[in-house]
Amino acid sequence: MKIIIINGPNLNLLGRREPNVYGNLTFEAYFKILQNKYPHIELEYYQSNIEGDLIDKIQDTGFSYDGIILNAAAYTHTSVGIGDAIKAIQRPVIEVHISNVYAREKFRHQSFIAPNAYGIITGFGMQSYELALLSFLQQS
Ligand code: DQA
Repeated sequence: MKIIIINGPNLNLLGRREPNVYGNLTFEAYFKILQNKYPHIELEYYQSNIEGDLIDKIQDTGFSYDGIILNAAAYTHTSVGIGDAIKAIQRPVIEVHISNVYAREKFRHQSFIAPNAYGIITGFGMQSYELALLSFLQQS
């Protein structure tokens, strides 16, 4: 099973960015934990702060990988282009957020990903990614 985790803008700063909201762990450290825990899954990780690069990666993987775990970060709430990319591809996308976006500012309640996502996991800290992975595992 081949799964990619795609992280959007500012998530390269995890561990340093607003630790009260996002915790103290870097994504690289968390990704190693996931890889060690699920060695039988071909797990990839990609991060970009650039909307078009995220769309390119969704297009590149969305016809051949088994699934995409997508934290589009702030672009979740603004990007028609990322929403359209998800509509265009054939493989399931699970939208994840570290924080509970519905407990935060109103502008974070809007998602251009959600209407075309297989499901949404929000508010479980870094564990949101693992819950998405488990969902893909159960489907296989
Ligand atoms: C986030 C929530 C978004 O609203 C925010 O812009 C982020 C991170 C999360 O994982 O909680 O950058 O996607």
